[in-house]
Amino acid sequence: MKIAVVGTGYVGLVTGTCFAETGNKVTCIDIDKSKVDKLTNGEITIYEPGLEKLFLRNLKEERLKFTTNLAEGIEDAAIVFLALPTPPGEDGAADLRYVLGVATDLGKILTDYKVIVDKSTVPVGTAQKVHAAIEVNYKGAFDVVSNPEFLREGVAVDDFMKPDRVVIGTNSERARKLMGDLYAPFVRQGNPVIYMDERSAELTKYAANSFLATKISFMNEIAQLCEKLGADVDMVRRGIGSDERIGKRFLFPGIGYGGSCFPKDVQALIRSSEEASYDFKILKAVEEVNEAQKKHLLPKIKTYFKNELKGKHFALWGLAFKPNTDDIREAPALSMVDALIAEGATVTAFDPEAMNNVKKSIGDKIGYAASQYEALLNADALIIATEWSEFRTPDFEMIGTRLKNKAIFDGRNLFETKQVVELGYHYESIGRP
Ligand SMILES: NC(=O)c1ccc[n+]([C@@H]2O[C@H](COP(=O)([O-])OP(=O)(O)OC[C@H]3O[C@@H](n4cnc5c(N)ncnc54)[C@H](O)[C@@H]3O)[C@@H](O)[C@H]2O)c1
Repeated sequence: MKIAVVGTGYVGLVTGTCFAETGNKVTCIDIDKSKVDKLTNGEITIYEPGLEKLFLRNLKEERLKFTTNLAEGIEDAAIVFLALPTPPGEDGAADLRYVLGVATDLGKILTDYKVIVDKSTVPVGTAQKVHAAIEVNYKGAFDVVSNPEFLREGVAVDDFMKPDRVVIGTNSERARKLMGDLYAPFVRQGNPVIYMDERSAELTKYAANSFLATKISFMNEIAQLCEKLGADVDMVRRGIGSDERIGKRFLFPGIGYGGSCFPKDVQALIRSSEEASYDFKILKAVEEVNEAQKKHLLPKIKTYFKNELKGKHFALWGLAFKPNTDDIREAPALSMVDALIAEGATVTAFDPEAMNNVKKSIGDKIGYAASQYEALLNADALIIATEWSEFRTPDFEMIGTRLKNKAIFDGRNLFETKQVVELGYHYESIGRP
């Protein structure tokens, strides 16, 4: 099948590459010319495990190409995916200007039947708005389908190639058939393709992310309570996670969720609810807890340094919002950086993949180290903000000789408290004695 993907970011590039991998001819379209040039020349623009190999193979086999020209990119496509940004607007609602802007442009250039697919995360009613925007200029037949994306950065290729489920929101038989054919190779093991109406599909995506964010905030509150009551959140987590009704995943406390999805999607669902005259109380609390959680380590650090952080220097391990990605959008590490700098401290950070993005975003506000151990030089303490695997079993002796104080503030509960304390460290983590 011939496919077009408009927007070649984290979702668009993975979507385009994975559809090419199953034999489709895919054209990815982006307004960012430098991105399109790089991709055309075989230079991958995001870090995502396993993606580069597939990307290079499909580029070489000429199943994958890139352009800035929308009309040229969609010309032969049977299905056009919109993988465009939907950032929060000032009031927290999803900003649909990119999606509706492209829909309007599509209306001007469509000449035959195509399925236009909202893969971006968009509020209920957007498929209808996209339909209306296209219809202003194009009177021929077309369908708009909601096909939300559930991939997780860091394991995006696996998630896309073997999805737990595919949600397809459409009432059109013609669109349903095309979408079903396209996704058939991805669900050969029997994972469901769930067909529904557009509005339910749109809400499904927000419900999924909001539920996961709720799990995280819930565990962060349990962790807070553990600290006050002298319980150990690791034990509580294992105790409840073995209950199948609860499940083991998404029960890890930390310094809050970040990324390009949870914060904005929770906000957008709160806003959508308000627009529908519904007060979504749980979600407001989820957001509030998360904001507070990002600062949870700070009082611990301040207490250790007797409320005087001015002139102190910190090593920070981890900048990405989670491991195995270079994405720093809404990363809790950056909130930590701001808080430390506001206290008059300085920071040198190390992250295996995200440092370039941080440099582009905040420049020399912090120092950057070439390795996790280099970051420790002259630091008064170590702070851990992202649970990269390589941070999990570090050389504690080396850490001890490089830090001015043997103090570790661990926002991701990477180490066994007993082990680190026995090595002579002042060690603080989340929700553990
Ligand atoms: N990142 C994730 O993990 C993830 C997962 C599921 C869903 N989503 C949703 O998918 C959507 C895209 O997210 P993302 O993380 O890929 O965003 P992104 O910012 O990484 O990529 C968006 C791309 O769209 C391009 N673009 C902007 N305007 C354009 C236009 N008019 N024409 C062509 N290209 C244009 C940008 O240059 C950019 O390359 C969002 O709605 C997001 O909520 C993201």
